[in-house]
Amino acid sequence: MSTRPAESQSQQSGHQSDGSPRIPSDEELAQMSTDDLVDLGNRIDDIEVVSSRERFPVPGTRAEKRAERQVAGWFILAAISAIVFIVAFIAWPWEYRSPTEEGAWIYALYTPIIGVTFGLAVFAVGMGVIAYSKKLLPEDLTIQQRHDGRSPEIDRRTAAARLVQTGQQSGLSRRKLIYRSMGAAGGVLGLGVLVAAFGGLVKNPWKEGPNSPLLVTDWKSKGGERVYVRKFNGNARDIVLVRAGDLEPGAMETVFPFHASEVKNPAVFEEFLVAGATGGQAVLNEEDLVDPEHVAETVRSSDSPVMLIRLRPNVAVIKRAGQEDFNYGTLFAYSKICSHMGCPTSLYEDQTNRILCPCHQSQFQANEYAKPVFGPATRPLAQLPIAVDDLGYLYARSDFIEPVGPAFWERNS
Ligand code: FES
Repeated sequence: MSTRPAESQSQQSGHQSDGSPRIPSDEELAQMSTDDLVDLGNRIDDIEVVSSRERFPVPGTRAEKRAERQVAGWFILAAISAIVFIVAFIAWPWEYRSPTEEGAWIYALYTPIIGVTFGLAVFAVGMGVIAYSKKLLPEDLTIQQRHDGRSPEIDRRTAAARLVQTGQQSGLSRRKLIYRSMGAAGGVLGLGVLVAAFGGLVKNPWKEGPNSPLLVTDWKSKGGERVYVRKFNGNARDIVLVRAGDLEPGAMETVFPFHASEVKNPAVFEEFLVAGATGGQAVLNEEDLVDPEHVAETVRSSDSPVMLIRLRPNVAVIKRAGQEDFNYGTLFAYSKICSHMGCPTSLYEDQTNRILCPCHQSQFQANEYAKPVFGPATRPLAQLPIAVDDLGYLYARSDFIEPVGPAFWERNS
């Protein structure tokens, strides 16, 4: 007896005689429409479509338009937020201002602004996608039996078909407002991520050759002028120079550079130095400075802070080869920028003579050229060569002889 009628029947029903779905050949698969593949996938995956309902069976109704506008509103909000984020990220004043300076509040808003706008952009995209699926995608109720193991090829083909069908049913192609606003939100947000990730790489850090920012600091004398050691008292434009006798044994002070050339009139500066050395009250006003803003910038510069440490007199000292004369008596000056990842090494413990970086707990031995003795740092803190002038003021004999802070690709030490 021929089996052809049974085969024909199973082909029509899409099931084999044992009830399992009939698996089409590759040629048959290639010729199946999207709907056929979805239907096949449902049967293979034991998916039962209990109900399927278009949200808006009649396209173009006012209700559908209103739903579209609501969804598009989220995407437009995301696009606007991402644009504000990009503009703020590039153009908002981000460099540090001390709270006493004019414009400090604008700087203080930088982080909140980029955080809020980026967060809002991501949130609005998420809300737009949720609103779209809730308000416009067809409302399906399906039940699927769970299967274990990896899906066979046919399952993956039919699953892909289901995605295509969902895309077709979503009506995205005819909902131009949503289509465009979603594209704008995704595009601008993606651009924002790229700007945040790669914006800092646009500058060439080696443009200035040996004077490139990674190789020199503000301690470098530009035209042979003396670079004094300055204390920061909270006001970036208030000039307080440090004298050798200002620090008690065991004390530490964070200091910054001050270039003699910053004062317009050398006679006024000389008067200021003499008065300071003899207990007078001379001050340098903004009018005395060539560029008060640049003087303030020097204090904010990330690589200029230095720890000036006066060791106790009985502490044994080991100096680094080639840097034997970098200290002045018991005064040692080390870059405050950690050689691990650049945090400020702000803590000095005068009983053990250790400098501690709070970020990852590296410790540096201050009486042994600030070599690392604990933690992840592997290089000593850079040491600044210092000396004292005739009036007792400390100054830098030169810039650091090595780059300060963490390693970078081009660094060879
Ligand atoms: S940055 Fe100082 S230990 Fe990591």
